[in-house]
Formats: sequence, C-alpha cells, structure tokens
Amino acid sequence: MQKEIVMFDVHKIREDFPILQREVNGKPLVYFDNAATSQTPQVVIDAIVNYYSTYNANIHRGVHTLSQEATDAYEIARQKVQAHFNAQHAHEIILTAGTTHSINIVASGFTSLLSSGDEIIVSALEHHSNIVPWQMLCERTGAVLKVIPMDEEGTLVLDTYEALLSEKTKLVFVNHVSNALGTINPIETIITQAHAVGAAVLIDGAQSCPHIKPDVQALDADFYVASAHKLCGPTGVGVLYGKEEWLHKLPPYQGGGEMIDQVTFEKTTYAGLPHKFEAGTPNICGGIAFGAALDYMNAIGFESIAAYEHELLTYATQQLLQIEGLKIYGTSAHKTAVISFNIDNIHPYDVGTIVDKLGIAVRTGHHCAQPIMDFYKIPGTIRASFSFYNTKEEIDALVTALQKAKMMLS
Ligand code: ALA
Repeated sequence: MQKEIVMFDVHKIREDFPILQREVNGKPLVYFDNAATSQTPQVVIDAIVNYYSTYNANIHRGVHTLSQEATDAYEIARQKVQAHFNAQHAHEIILTAGTTHSINIVASGFTSLLSSGDEIIVSALEHHSNIVPWQMLCERTGAVLKVIPMDEEGTLVLDTYEALLSEKTKLVFVNHVSNALGTINPIETIITQAHAVGAAVLIDGAQSCPHIKPDVQALDADFYVASAHKLCGPTGVGVLYGKEEWLHKLPPYQGGGEMIDQVTFEKTTYAGLPHKFEAGTPNICGGIAFGAALDYMNAIGFESIAAYEHELLTYATQQLLQIEGLKIYGTSAHKTAVISFNIDNIHPYDVGTIVDKLGIAVRTGHHCAQPIMDFYKIPGTIRASFSFYNTKEEIDALVTALQKAKMMLS
C-alpha cells in the first residue's frame, strides 16, 4: 500500500524562517539559491543562541558541569545524524567541517591503500570537490582517474560505467544528485556494480540530502558525505559516514588533541572511532545545531518535502519554458527541484544581476562544475534551486523578472 503523504501549509512553514520576511532592493526576498545554502529556521537559531547563552564549553575534556552538558548535547546530535542516515553505529558518524572536508579525509586516507596503476572512477556530473581531491590522490599514488560520461539530458551513461569497471578499479566516487543540473543518479546500481569488482564507493550527498533521506545501510554505501548548511543547519559542519571496517582501515587525517590514545615522543597510538578523525576542538555549536536542523526537517517529513518540491519543479519548468529563447540544461526524468538555464546568448551573470535588483536570489556561473559547462559548451548557467519553503507565487515573480531582464539585455 502506498504511504499517505501529509502535505504541509507552506505559508505556515515560511513563518519559521525569519530571513524570509526581509526585503532586498525594496522587494520581498525570493530565495532560489537553496542548492548553495539553505535558510535557517528559528528553532536552529535558538539552538545556537541557547548553546552560547547557557552551556558553551569544550567537550570530552572536563569534569565540570558545562563541559558535560556540552558533551552530552554533541553526542546526542551525533546520534540524531546516525538515526537520520540509518548508520549501524554512532561511531561510524564523523562530524566534519562539511562535505569537502569529509571527501578530503577519505582521499587522504586512501594514499597508503592505493598503488600505481590502480583505477578510480568519478562521474562527469561531479562538483569540483568530488574531482580535485581524487586527482590529487592520483598524483600521490600513480592511480589513474576514469570518468563515467554524461549525455545531453544530463544523465550518466551506465553502459560505459560498466565497461570501465575492472579488477583494477579500487574506488568509485559519484554524487547522489548533481548540484549543477539536479539529476538524481542511479546510485543503487552504481554501488552494486562497483562492489561486484571489489571497489569501494563514496557518495557525495551534499545535494541529495535536502530532498531525500538516505539509508546508508540499504544503499550499502561505503562512505556517504553531506553538509549541514544545505539541510537548514549552520555552515562549517557536515558528516562523513563510513562503514566501520573502512574507517578502521583509513589512517587519521589530522593529528592533534582528542584523536589519541597514548602520546610519547617515541610513539603515539590513536583513539578509536569516531575520535580518530576528530582532532582538535570541533564545531560544537554547529554539531548541536545540525541535530536541531535534522529534527526540524524530519518533523516536516522528507516524503512531504519531496512531493511538494516536485510540484514546484513541474510548475517552474512549465512556466520558465514559456519564455522564448530559454533553454534548460539537465532534463532527466529523475531530478530534484533544480533548474539550470540560459536565455538566448545572454550571459548568466547579467541576468543574475538584474533579477537581484528585483529581490530574487539565483546562482549564476559554472557552479563549481566546469566539466558540465564544457560538455554543453557554455560559460555557465542561471540556476534556480527550490526548497520546501518556496512558493508558486515566487516562481511567477522569477518569470516576470526574467522577462524584464531579457527585454533589457536583448
Ligand atoms: N556547491 C554549492 C552549489 O552548488 C555551493 O551552489
């Protein structure tokens, strides 16, 4: 039986976000840059204020009350992240500075596990943060980088992926959702096929997590990474989920306090998981606020969020295509609520500047995904990325603003 999806009242939801009340250039803010960072609800702001107002202290270090309260709150937040991603153990959740940091921990760790001639596969749809660390890993180890190509729709060519896999393949890195196009990649198939040749898989969930609740055990992902700030949480905090066996195999990324067992000048032994990967004072407040953000989003429910955002995507696609000369990049049937487009040959930056004057925030440029822009032979796109607190009226405002921009720039 299909589960009933509870629809929510978007106008009531918007009251949770103080920033949505503000004006930009004398117009009501229309925030369509959610793929870059999401906005923050009052409950998350309250969690941050409460931490600094009442129990700000360093964690895992003190017997005093504040330190214990902060430690408890931080470890409860880790458990919330564990529950959200359905990790088997809380110690498989490493709290990091964000997706890029998480990827670099894994890339650095694999330096001692790869040999010259080993192969690493990434996809043509990756963000630079899921390309460059692996290129650097290849430079350090002599491993070779292979790329799963994309097609005109912005979907991955899986036949070529299958052909690229061999016993030489040690690692596969793919995003769950493309930040530039919104394509949802078939990561279940990608993971199963990689495991068939003995390769480990890291999934970059930075762009999927705002829309989809991942189950890392059902997916059988070896690593899954994400950032709190795309999920209504603060910047500077994120997650590296790793299967226990892999996290044991990887060496620490940074040395410092709290990641040790015993230190002498002759030899240091390392702490167990997760502390082995959490050297130094972490972003304590950020971790706690990440937990509060997950509570907030889970209370709304990811099925309701996905259903509503799909409605916004369908509506926005129809309305934008009414504008003559507008071309959408990324037309896969499986997309999150992201639309990348250009109008005629007008430079995206010019369009972005004009719509900003009308209070509308979109991202313009190559979206840290230059290979995708090279594929389409364009310098960049205008990207409107929607969240569950956006409305159809805001989409109408974007369409009107784009018509104006087109008139002024043609
Ligand atoms: N990676 C983020 C984006 O796509 C910043 O905008």
